[in-house]
Amino acid sequence: MKALIAAGGQAKRLRPITWTINKHLIPLANKPMLWHVIDKVTNAGIKDIIINVNPGEADIMRNVFGDGSHWGAKIIYLEQKGGARGVAHVVANAEELLRGHKFLFFLGDNIILGSIQRFVERFLKEDLDCMLAFSRVKDPERFGVPEFREDGTLKRVIEKPIDPPSPFAVTGIYLYNEKYFEAYRNIQPSERGEYEISDINTWFIDNGKVGYEEITGWWKDTGTPEALLEGNALIKDDTPKELFTIESEIPIETQIQGPVKIGKNTRICPNSLIRGPVVIGDNCQIEASYIGPYTSIGNGSQIKGSEVEHSIIFNNVTIDTRKRIIDSIIGQHASVVDVMKTHPHSGHRMVIGENSTVEL
Ligand code: G1P
Repeated sequence: MKALIAAGGQAKRLRPITWTINKHLIPLANKPMLWHVIDKVTNAGIKDIIINVNPGEADIMRNVFGDGSHWGAKIIYLEQKGGARGVAHVVANAEELLRGHKFLFFLGDNIILGSIQRFVERFLKEDLDCMLAFSRVKDPERFGVPEFREDGTLKRVIEKPIDPPSPFAVTGIYLYNEKYFEAYRNIQPSERGEYEISDINTWFIDNGKVGYEEITGWWKDTGTPEALLEGNALIKDDTPKELFTIESEIPIETQIQGPVKIGKNTRICPNSLIRGPVVIGDNCQIEASYIGPYTSIGNGSQIKGSEVEHSIIFNNVTIDTRKRIIDSIIGQHASVVDVMKTHPHSGHRMVIGENSTVEL
């Protein structure tokens, strides 16, 4: 089996972060979002992977994930041709590589907790043409939604219906065989001008053998900062306790509570409290600070006399403030310092990129 992972798009609502980094590279628990997806795919035994990327981004992605050898897998990077023409078109773009294979199609901004192996096994064992995963959500109108007949069988999938016929979302984890390409040739672009994956799924319901399962513990990044923070927290909860390792020497007086992962060469002064789940990278310095639950701190960051909780701190960030930082996303090389560190002592001095948000 092969896997196709979709990692393109612009993620405009995550600017300014996404001015300089593809959404799928944003760190969640100190690993790029897509890293967690590749973990899931390879843990399900699929080692032949294609990653669909934006034009011009293949090298950037290759530099991060390499050729797949870290996972004992083969990864190739395929740049999207013909513009952004919908989720179903991403698969059509990879037709040459997928033809003749069964494949998993995984939208790279979908994180699911737990394994997908059972899902893949059922698809193969029952020799299905298409297998879908549903998740019960509060806002089905934002997704592809399955409609059922009175006898409980699947009738169709509707993309972002105003009036959802069921409380389920079709998650971005799909299994198909090569009938996909026949389906693609039979669908038309929707009103918004996109080839919809929901129309492909409806074609399979009408013309093939379709299976589905309800899954729990699914997270769909909606592209908002709040959603990213939620993803960062969920991934920490999904990480087995034994992976929270401490690779630096931490003074015995430092208070470490709950699951905490600390990288190499990180210095934490004794007068700090780290309350997990927390992930701290390599070469960081933490002094007289409180690092609270669901915080991730990237490599080379310095935190002094501060309190940080439920936040994503990228690499090489400086935080030195008496103000408590919560629910925040702080990009690489950014500094958050108290005004009394600089002169004059009053007023807020800021250099803020486009689309930033600051609550004072
Ligand atoms: C896409 C699909 C939708 C699916 C969702 C899952 O939506 O079109 O059917 O439910 O992914 O993540 P999009 O994220 O492009 O709005």
